[in-house]
Amino acid sequence: MLSTPLGDGAELCPLEPWQAAELAAFTERVRDHLTPWLPWAHSVTDTASARAFLQRYADKQAADQGRVYGIRLDGELVGGMMFRLFDAEGGSCELGAWLAPGARGRGLVTTAARRMIDWAVGVRGLSRVEWMVSPENAPSIAVAERLGMTHEGTLRGVFPMGGRRHDLQVWSLLAEEWRAGAVRGGSA
Ligand SMILES: CC(C)(COP(=O)(O)OP(=O)(O)OC[C@H]1O[C@@H](n2cnc3c(N)ncnc32)[C@H](O)[C@@H]1OP(=O)(O)O)[C@@H](O)C(=O)NCCC(=O)NCCS
Repeated sequence: MLSTPLGDGAELCPLEPWQAAELAAFTERVRDHLTPWLPWAHSVTDTASARAFLQRYADKQAADQGRVYGIRLDGELVGGMMFRLFDAEGGSCELGAWLAPGARGRGLVTTAARRMIDWAVGVRGLSRVEWMVSPENAPSIAVAERLGMTHEGTLRGVFPMGGRRHDLQVWSLLAEEWRAGAVRGGSA
């Protein structure tokens, strides 16, 4: 896959170490909108740290343990998606996502997540897709709801970031639920 169209000039594309300078510039531009929620937005501060982040995901991809993608709108990098975790043997994965403020409200992440779930469940045969989100992150919780996920519970103080420990809600979707939704035309 070189890129997957998301409609209206948007695409889901690979994001690789050679694109580190572009990711660093993007992160610099929208950092304040990402740091409340995403640990990597604290650590990606220049091209070298962006390259290290992308290399970590390139290594994960080579080991089939994770993947990162860019979201482009008319060619411009406006966001991204990841399989933060991908466990083919255990049959589960965890999705992550982000958008620049100007690219929000168009369904780009929901559409990209649906493509990634179709691949994880339909092509790779995974049984479970997870979405971990702060209880304070209403737009991200709305994505999980739009995807038809179920809120399983909240891990208390599980996640250190920005000098404090955060709760995380666990949302998930099972393969049979995804297939049932796809058959009804609701999820794919
Ligand atoms: C979480 C985040 C990616 C959600 O962005 P988003 O634009 O709201 O999500 P989507 O791309 O799925 O778009 C959904 C919005 O587009 C609208 N929309 C328009 N066309 C749509 C379509 N075809 N399909 C779905 N939604 C559509 C929806 O109504 C919704 O808008 P609303 O919230 O005003 O109702 C964004 O808030 C973000 O980047 N936050 C910072 C990083 C972060 O928190 N990441 C997640 C950590 S768990």
